[in-house]
Amino acid sequence: MKIKTLLAILMAMVVVSGCTAQNSNNTTKQNNNMKSKALVVFFSHAGENYSVGNIEVGNTKIVADYISEMTGADQFEIVCEKDYDMPYMKLIEVAKQEANNDEYPAYKGSVGDLSQYDTIFIGGPIWWGTYPRVMFTFFRDNDLSGKTIVPFVTHEGSGLASTVSDLKGAYPKATVVQGFAIAGHDVRSGRNRVEKWLKEMGY
Ligand SMILES: Cc1cc2nc3c(=O)[nH]c(=O)nc-3n(C[C@H](O)[C@H](O)[C@H](O)COP(=O)(O)O)c2cc1C
Repeated sequence: MKIKTLLAILMAMVVVSGCTAQNSNNTTKQNNNMKSKALVVFFSHAGENYSVGNIEVGNTKIVADYISEMTGADQFEIVCEKDYDMPYMKLIEVAKQEANNDEYPAYKGSVGDLSQYDTIFIGGPIWWGTYPRVMFTFFRDNDLSGKTIVPFVTHEGSGLASTVSDLKGAYPKATVVQGFAIAGHDVRSGRNRVEKWLKEMGY
């Protein structure tokens, strides 16, 4: 009789603890869902570029689109008011001037209400060792304090360069996580690398 009672208590405990785990999983899931409202902010330059020739869709845009497809994140594309449609060698010079002079080129439109997003992916090509200056105009104009910022870049050798520290400088009150870098000439065959990175981050 005593053993039966003990077994009954043990079974009840298993059932209760199972339910609790289930509930806490649900709660975690819900929290994650609430937290996972994400936005991808990116800049990308189509046209003549290093290593990939004359491209119709910019390298970074391809990665931004992978991220949105895989996470459901909304997008805001930073489009410069200034026209960057020029040969690669000319653009290199224009971008160098902008960087040397700490310029803030204007961009088109505005990102709208950011309060609905907890996570902001920020992506761009590396131009002279960091994001293009027009992205710094976005950083200057939009407060991302309290958000989780996920940097990503496409490049041709520099990796993340100083993007992570520049984001930390622009947003001291945000959490800037370690970012993702992929060579521009690898993005078209790099879908699975983006998927792996997102999975590692819990998406
Ligand atoms: C103006 C300019 C400057 C660049 N500077 C760098 C650099 O400093 N380091 C690097 O690895 N790649 C550099 N690149 C290569 C780009 O980062 C690379 O091609 C990137 O994938 C382009 O992305 P997009 O097509 O989205 O603009 C530069 C390209 C341009 C056009």
